[in-house]
Amino acid sequence: MKGLILSGGKGTRLYPLTYTRAKQLIPVANKPVLFRVIETIHDAGVDDIGVVIGSTGPEIREAVGDGSRWGVNITYIDQPNPLGLAHAVKTARDFLGDERFVMFLGDNVIQGGITQLIADFADSDWNCQIVLKEVDNPSAFGVVKLGTDGNVERLVEKPADPPSNLALVGIYMFDHHIHEAVDRIKPSARGELEITDAIQWLVENNYRVFPYVHPGWWIDTGKPIDMLEANSLVLEEFTPHLATDALIENSRIDRRVIVERGARIINSTIHGPTIIGEHTLIENSYIGPFTSIYHHVIVQNCEIERSIVLENSIIRDLDERLYGSLIGRSTTVQRKDEKPRTLTLNIGDHSNLWLI
Ligand code: TTP
Repeated sequence: MKGLILSGGKGTRLYPLTYTRAKQLIPVANKPVLFRVIETIHDAGVDDIGVVIGSTGPEIREAVGDGSRWGVNITYIDQPNPLGLAHAVKTARDFLGDERFVMFLGDNVIQGGITQLIADFADSDWNCQIVLKEVDNPSAFGVVKLGTDGNVERLVEKPADPPSNLALVGIYMFDHHIHEAVDRIKPSARGELEITDAIQWLVENNYRVFPYVHPGWWIDTGKPIDMLEANSLVLEEFTPHLATDALIENSRIDRRVIVERGARIINSTIHGPTIIGEHTLIENSYIGPFTSIYHHVIVQNCEIERSIVLENSIIRDLDERLYGSLIGRSTTVQRKDEKPRTLTLNIGDHSNLWLI
């Protein structure tokens, strides 16, 4: 069994963060989503992993390397343009050969791992296994209609009038018949080779497609709000930990907090679940639940809740509590005390500011 992780794409819905960083490398609970995906596949016993990369390939290669850190072997596969998930499978044809494989979207986070799913598929005579999840807004996803016998009847990509509320989660298992399927389908109206169309082709040609409905949570981190939601869900499952060299001075830290190496927390209150990254300074501040502060950040005289702050940023002297915020790398947010008291902004394209 091989693994295939899709880490191409443009990540337009996460602009401006993804102007300068591959979306799969944005951390959730202080660990890039792509690293979580590699760990999930490795935990399921699959160590030969292909990673499909696009324009952000150099950054992904540098961050992931040869995979030895996780005990896996990584092969990079260049997809010149993000022409769809089925196109990514086509691009990976040589790497995959005729082996069965699990395909995982590099920006998805799932609760509970996939070990059992992989084992079930490996032992079965199914040609494909798909993972489904009940969602409130099926029109945003590939949607699956099951028949009364529980078998897959039909798949449709982002339907205006969804035939069910079962969305395709970004995890798929295939045998070699998928290669014929991706060769047979045509690009969709949005110009992509859709994996839903390829699986629909398998269904129409009487291949066995097994649907598994996932009971736990699953997040596709496509938009900022999804990143915050994934961050909250992952933090909730963490075991609290205080690094031995962390400095905690005159502060209240409740249970369910992780403080990483070299962090300093002075005159502050931290409510979990929250993670404070390596060599970060929190001073005279309140960090509320569901917050991830990455490494080498300085927070002074502020309150921050349900937010993600990336590395090397400085946040200081704010009157209002930051809430529901996603703050990029090496960013400064601070009060301006000198006169005239103006709003002074130096922000990138596609940024959003909500002022009160
Ligand atoms: P999407 O979220 O569908 O696409 P995207 O990353 O381009 O994002 P946006 O819509 O915001 O512009 O992609 C899901 C995952 O699959 C993501 O990790 C990128 C990857 N992908 C590829 O590797 N190749 C492709 O051709 C496409 C469409 C996506």
